[in-house]
Amino acid sequence: MQPMLHVLNGKIQSPAPIWFMRQAGRYLPEYRKIRQKIGGFLDLCYHPDLATEVTLQPIRRFDLDAAIIFSDILVTPHALGRRLWFVEGEGPRLEPLVLKSEVAAMEKEIPNVTSFLQPVLKAISQVRAELPKSKSLIGFVGAPWTMACYMIDGKGGKDFPKTRKLAYQDPIFMDELLDILARAATEFLMAQIKAGADVVQIFDSWASLLDEQAFHRFVIKPTKQITNELQKRAINAPIIGFPRGSGLLARDYAKLSGVNGLSLDISHPLKFAQLRLQSLLPVQGNLDPYRLLGDIDQCFQASQKILDHFGQAPFIFNLGHGIDLQTDPDRVLHLVDYVRSHS
Ligand code: CP3
Repeated sequence: MQPMLHVLNGKIQSPAPIWFMRQAGRYLPEYRKIRQKIGGFLDLCYHPDLATEVTLQPIRRFDLDAAIIFSDILVTPHALGRRLWFVEGEGPRLEPLVLKSEVAAMEKEIPNVTSFLQPVLKAISQVRAELPKSKSLIGFVGAPWTMACYMIDGKGGKDFPKTRKLAYQDPIFMDELLDILARAATEFLMAQIKAGADVVQIFDSWASLLDEQAFHRFVIKPTKQITNELQKRAINAPIIGFPRGSGLLARDYAKLSGVNGLSLDISHPLKFAQLRLQSLLPVQGNLDPYRLLGDIDQCFQASQKILDHFGQAPFIFNLGHGIDLQTDPDRVLHLVDYVRSHS
């Protein structure tokens, strides 16, 4: 069995399987070369052969235990008919969602999501065909709440004021929007699994922006809707949830969202995470990606602490968030060696 599946089925694997969020990207020279050739980031996401190639690049370089399909969380709103583009050096832009009638139009697009995203699905089956059997292929979607943040505010940032205001001014409207996003995400995840994804991850990058009550309503509930529906359709690929910045609320998320594994960010103290989170579910994480930019011995020490806390139960080594653009790929290789020889 693939090491990553072994862990997500509740078993201890030694050495711990290892992969990195955002492992394919601009910190790799071989990625930059392809990215230059194709032009836009979205063009790369929708080019099955080149998306296959960049998905496999970090596997060739670092021999990681899992590949994650090269795509973006915002392709789902794109498939629902929202205008999406990326501004070089700045990030994503979406035509801001304002009207209720726009939500009704999105609902009509749900049956077309998987045909719109066919290029991504084709890349998944191509990667699965090329990837060694012992390595897992990870599919993913954005969580409904995080997709809504980009859709309503219209761009990245760290506060998403329009989205949060709307969540409290018109929670019913937010429920309706999240329901549609959850249904679209379910269709896309199911198609990714059928195309060859062994594991899927739900990225809730902005789960930190809600109070306890709203976290239950807008983060846990829509995630539960997705996991329930996949279960109902007898889809049994394990699901990893990443409620970034959820702190102590991660416990409710682990108990109630229906995910099979929990990806941890840097906000969780290791002892707390070991005793109160890893006791509930296999965990993944949580080295600060900026550690790779600092002193390498300190980076190894921080990694050792993570291994000491999580190594005696089901655990996947990863970062607490995506790898930074300025990371030296040779350091990543050293880190992989370190984790393999010390866990
Ligand atoms: O290697 C992998 O992890 C797979 C690919 C992947 C990308 N985005 C590629 C990407 C994954 C899993 C994502 C998820 C994603 N996208 C998230 C959730 C994780 C997180 O970071 O919190 C979010 C919030 C997005 C939205 C998004 N896409 C932003 C905010 C940006 C701009 C920031 C940046 O780094 O430029 C993107 C662009 C993006 N997505 C790039 C890549 C490789 C950079 C595009 C380029 O090549 O210019």
